[in-house]
Amino acid sequence: MRLSTSIILLSVLGWGCSYRILLVFPLPGVRSHSILGEGIVRHLLAAGHNVTYITAVPSKLSAPELRQIDVSSIKKVFHAEDFCDIDKVLGQGKEIEFHHLDILRRHLMVANYTATHKRVQELMMDPQEQFDLVILDWISTEFLAGLSPVLKCPFTWLSSMEPHGRVLSLVDEWPSPAYVPRSHSRATPPLTFAQRATELWNMLAIMYTKWQLMSEEQALYERAFGRAAAARGRRLPPLEAVKYNASLMLGNSHAATGLAIKLPQSYVPVAGFHIQEEPLPHNLLKIMDDAHDGVIYFSMGSLLKSRRMPDTLKQGLLAMFGSLRQTVIWKLEETPENVPKNVHIFSFVPQQSVLAHPNCILFITHGGQLSTTEALHFAVPILGVPVFGDQFRNIFRAVQKGFARHARAGLELPRDLKTEIQEMIGNPKYREVARELSLMYHDRRATGAELVQWVERVVRTRGAPHLRSPALLVPWYQKMYLDLMSLVVGVVLVIYFAVIRVLCMVKKIDLIKKNR
Ligand SMILES: *[C@@H]1O[C@H](CO)[C@@H](O)[C@H](O)[C@H]1NC(C)=O
Repeated sequence: MRLSTSIILLSVLGWGCSYRILLVFPLPGVRSHSILGEGIVRHLLAAGHNVTYITAVPSKLSAPELRQIDVSSIKKVFHAEDFCDIDKVLGQGKEIEFHHLDILRRHLMVANYTATHKRVQELMMDPQEQFDLVILDWISTEFLAGLSPVLKCPFTWLSSMEPHGRVLSLVDEWPSPAYVPRSHSRATPPLTFAQRATELWNMLAIMYTKWQLMSEEQALYERAFGRAAAARGRRLPPLEAVKYNASLMLGNSHAATGLAIKLPQSYVPVAGFHIQEEPLPHNLLKIMDDAHDGVIYFSMGSLLKSRRMPDTLKQGLLAMFGSLRQTVIWKLEETPENVPKNVHIFSFVPQQSVLAHPNCILFITHGGQLSTTEALHFAVPILGVPVFGDQFRNIFRAVQKGFARHARAGLELPRDLKTEIQEMIGNPKYREVARELSLMYHDRRATGAELVQWVERVVRTRGAPHLRSPALLVPWYQKMYLDLMSLVVGVVLVIYFAVIRVLCMVKKIDLIKKNR
């Protein structure tokens, strides 16, 4: 009896069911986003779900339950490398500046391109296409949330960075800029007066930019989703309502790499779910096994292309690496001239497996979120050469935590790197801190399983309304009690003027009496 009740209960709740999940990762050319997308696909397939993957970077994965919708033709109009001009950064020591409006416009273009793509439109227009959940990669715009009302199913975000105001405000509220810096900030709390002022200013600037583009976004949104909603007999709610309707924010973050800020119940930190060690190729394994003085692994990620790196810099780095006792593995697309004996150039490196090798003692990285997470996963200290975006924030935080050091990108890089490498190899402190933090990072459930469980929870509870933050219902002026404050000020003013008036009248009466 009890068994059958629980079986009925389980089937009502939908345990062990296969769900139809739509995953949307529209950004082309940014490797880290596609690595995260693929990680989710892998875990969902392994849990027996049916996945439709709309992506600008199609995956090599294939399975009967996986359907990919390739929107990579966006590459013709959107070049991720435009963001990141290596000549400027490395050659001239200039920094890449981001303008909120520019980024927002570019991302809006990507989102609009994806939503209006022929195959995506066909999917939306076909009433046979039914889904239990949509998972959206958060980019600067929430445009693609329109898929949720069209397909009439709940949706969740995936945030690729440490939690910050722009994503937290979608499921709860904007955290205080006094101690939660923006996603691209270099400031690490406690903030100085000037830093706090800058963070506040930036928060307002971002809000203003969003507001500037609001009507343009709404118009594009209606054009992209209106027809499909009508075809399915549904009313399309405004974007401003839909974007705050996500059931969850899955976050590629963890307190060991970031800040332990307070998070709403609908934010689920799952950093590390993308990690999947593969065996090292023979030649690489041999190099690493034979490296008795340890291996330094150097990679600047996928956006920085070697052919755009100045030759003098390349040669300078090679000469500097050549003067070290350690073995250096450098990920670079083209092999330059004059490569010293202890330096090995590879155009493709299974990064996680290199970091996992016990001989890997140092990771020189641009400090992307995935690279810093992987470094902690495998307890390897990092030497950061941040170039743009959230890399500064990741590296400065790691420096503060004590498992990293920082070198400035520019033509002086070889000299600076050498000093830092010697310090980091000579001092066991960095490795010890990395080990300690790695223990904290690993002291939790496997994040892949966690991710799948949360996704299933959202489907079973039809959007997890019990996790919705009440903060979303309260306008900002009420949160700051500005209404109460104006009431109090009003009452005080009324009393003040009333008293003055009475005093004046008393004085007048006195004068009249005296004059008599
Ligand atoms: C918000 O999500 C819930 C649950 O998925 C849904 O019932 C509701 O219609 C959605 N509202 C909007 C404005 O999209």
